[in-house]
Amino acid sequence: MNRLDSVVSLVQRYIGEVVRDGGRAVDATAGNGHDTLFLARLVGTAGRVWAFDVQVEALARARRLLLEEGLAGRVRFIQAGHESMDRYLDGPVDAVMFNLGYLPGGPRAITTRAETTVAALRLALDALRPGGRISLVCYPGHPSGGPETEAVTALCATLPPRYFAVVGLRVLNREGRPPLAIIIEKVGGTGEGQAPAADPGNNSPAAGRYPE
Ligand SMILES: C[S@@+](CC[C@H](N)C(=O)[O-])C[C@H]1O[C@@H](n2cnc3c(N)ncnc32)[C@H](O)[C@@H]1O
Repeated sequence: MNRLDSVVSLVQRYIGEVVRDGGRAVDATAGNGHDTLFLARLVGTAGRVWAFDVQVEALARARRLLLEEGLAGRVRFIQAGHESMDRYLDGPVDAVMFNLGYLPGGPRAITTRAETTVAALRLALDALRPGGRISLVCYPGHPSGGPETEAVTALCATLPPRYFAVVGLRVLNREGRPPLAIIIEKVGGTGEGQAPAADPGNNSPAAGRYPE
């Protein structure tokens, strides 16, 4: 079992509860492919995972890992910023995972950034099915990670509780600025309280689309 303070495995626990066999999920930051593999296992043979990264090297590593596990056929590897995910998705998804920052072992200059991460998060909020979840692992300890974490938490704070449940998990007994894990759930069920249906292709900003 993974340690409780591994934020990466913490978010996997919450995402694993909502991704269904035959489901659809997005890895918004493929990197070395560990979350892509986690999602590919969950969606099963009839499911689909969209894996985004801006780096050729990251997608090559992710594809290699999925090929080794015999699951690459369930994944669409896309070399594009997650801020354009609406151009690739064709319907609502169960989950979207963001592991922000830079590729471990890669160039630190190529990192996720506040502006594009917030744009992608708005698209992910729209794409989520009712009952679906988004996870974000934020790293405030590196130079662009501080403003990015602030921008993400600011957007999360504006999400109406009638439509979204939002929680943050932070390691409390570590020096410096430890990672922050955020889980967002689109309120499920039918009738009153249900968030408006996903509308891929509609570029309106998510937070503004959900009236109080
Ligand atoms: C912390 S790593 C992800 C680690 C990955 N989840 C894993 O399991 O190895 C962050 C990744 O985000 C990628 N990235 C940076 N900006 C991006 C963007 N706008 N859209 C998609 N990916 C981006 C980086 O290239 C890097 O590979």
